[in-house]
Amino acid sequence: MITVILGLQFGDEGKGKVTDYLSEKYSTVVRFNGGNNAGHTVVTDKGLHKFYLIPAGALRSRNVILGNGMVIDPFGLLDEIDKLKHVHADVQIKISRLAHVVTPLHKFLDKAEEEIRSKLRIGTTAQGIGPTYEDKYARTGVRMVDLLDREILTDKVETIFRMKKALLEGSEFNSDDARFRMVEKLLKAGKEISKYLDYTEDFIFDSYEKGENILFEGAQGTMLDIDFGLYPFVTSSNTLAGALSNGSGFPFRKVDRVIGVVKAYTSKVGAGPFPTEISGEDADRLRGYGNEYGTTTGRPRRVGWLDLNLLSYAIRINDVDTLAITKIDTLGQMDRVYVGERYSLDGEEIKYIPRSLDDLEKVKVSYREFKPWGDLSDIGKDGKRIEYSDLPREVKEYIEYIENRMKRPVEIISLGADRNKTIRKPL
Ligand code: IMP
Repeated sequence: MITVILGLQFGDEGKGKVTDYLSEKYSTVVRFNGGNNAGHTVVTDKGLHKFYLIPAGALRSRNVILGNGMVIDPFGLLDEIDKLKHVHADVQIKISRLAHVVTPLHKFLDKAEEEIRSKLRIGTTAQGIGPTYEDKYARTGVRMVDLLDREILTDKVETIFRMKKALLEGSEFNSDDARFRMVEKLLKAGKEISKYLDYTEDFIFDSYEKGENILFEGAQGTMLDIDFGLYPFVTSSNTLAGALSNGSGFPFRKVDRVIGVVKAYTSKVGAGPFPTEISGEDADRLRGYGNEYGTTTGRPRRVGWLDLNLLSYAIRINDVDTLAITKIDTLGQMDRVYVGERYSLDGEEIKYIPRSLDDLEKVKVSYREFKPWGDLSDIGKDGKRIEYSDLPREVKEYIEYIENRMKRPVEIISLGADRNKTIRKPL
């Protein structure tokens, strides 16, 4: 079985938990985009694990692949490999030689570029993601394989410096010495990483030919896609299901199914339009119940109701087969639960997402109200496997409403952080 799992909103849908749950049946997990702007938390009986670069399926799968579409901070990577090996000693990690490297200089540039943007400031994670992809497309980027070659690495760093000189002028990287020291550090990290570098596209295809199960794991979410997200408030990579081919080398025609992860409400980090956003006391409560603070940045996330217009767009563009709904337990604790059903613009109903920022800000959302289902923390407390039939009627009504409106079955429901709180709904 070849499966891709990805987020259908603005990231932070809880993909990590769902992926961890699924990965038991997959011998290989592959990440194909983004870098340590992503963050996922997996809770196991051995404790809480946070990963940023390493795929969330890494705790259970034998082979863990970081594909060419990623941008990798080599120092963060070594740290995460170390942590992973503590809890999963015999894991095989393979990193594409072609993945691009986020250097300390790129992290500086991320902040410097944000300063310049003024009104259209994105609120990036400041992890150097944008500038690293910029260099990739400018064909000056440093690839993982370049960390093994002093001459090439030095040449690339110097080229990037000349190209971005205006931005780097006031920084430590303006000094030849500092750049030299950075190159030395990168070479040292490269030496440690070299044993993990591989021709990952070949490895993935060989695994496929052997009939192994492969799980592709998208980072961020559909609405952060560089093309189809709410540009410019997006990340710098493609986050859609189709991106797995460019980001890993695996042919998209061989993918059997697409699982879309959707949080029972919406959250967003950073700036930009958010049609179903809520504010005030309701927002504070939802943020508190759901612990909606960035895994990578610690920033409070903006929160809102589920948005069916965005969701149906995401389902279509990713060709989603089944849905996984997360944080049902969080939403039920609110006094009032709403779903954004329809958009209208200048008094007319619209079924598309307006692409001018002005129009998107003007969109009016009509809502449907649901009866909240209260605290679900008692369900599964006895350690028994939770069945769909154990859920309160109001939860089922909410889930079945989404199924009917989106014309897709919900396959997985997550009711809390523990592994036994992720359940299957019979298809
Ligand atoms: P960047 O990816 O750091 O350049 O940030 C661009 C935008 O994407 C910002 O609004 C970030 O908050 C958002 N973003 C990037 N990665 C994630 C993620 O994994 N979850 C949620 N938001 C993200």
